[in-house]
Amino acid sequence: MEQARVPFQKILFVCVNRRTEKEICCAHRESETIAAQLKERIKALGLSRLVRVSKSGCQDLCAKGPNVMVFPDHVWYDGVTLADVDRIIQDVIRDVPMTSGRPTFLPSPTPPTPAGSER
Ligand code: FES
Repeated sequence: MEQARVPFQKILFVCVNRRTEKEICCAHRESETIAAQLKERIKALGLSRLVRVSKSGCQDLCAKGPNVMVFPDHVWYDGVTLADVDRIIQDVIRDVPMTSGRPTFLPSPTPPTPAGSER
């Protein structure tokens, strides 16, 4: 196993868990379409390498769904509808580093030099 830096600035986890017809779940409230639209908007903005939209399983907040969680921001959007997609995108990209209107890719941190190996 190797350990590396997460290659995205932000990750949006969209619950797409589906239960039986009579049970409450995010998938019954258009969460798959919400995930697809978030992904499409991020791609259209050219931010696919910085912001990842990832479908998730149940986030254990079913009655509040559809749920979208944003990391590393620790932000949780509940009761999301398709009308909220643009607002979420605006919030998420607000602090993504940009240069001249284009996203800036942050350099990977330099790995620490093992003690005693400096020359
Ligand atoms: S089904 Fe989405 S939080 Fe449980």
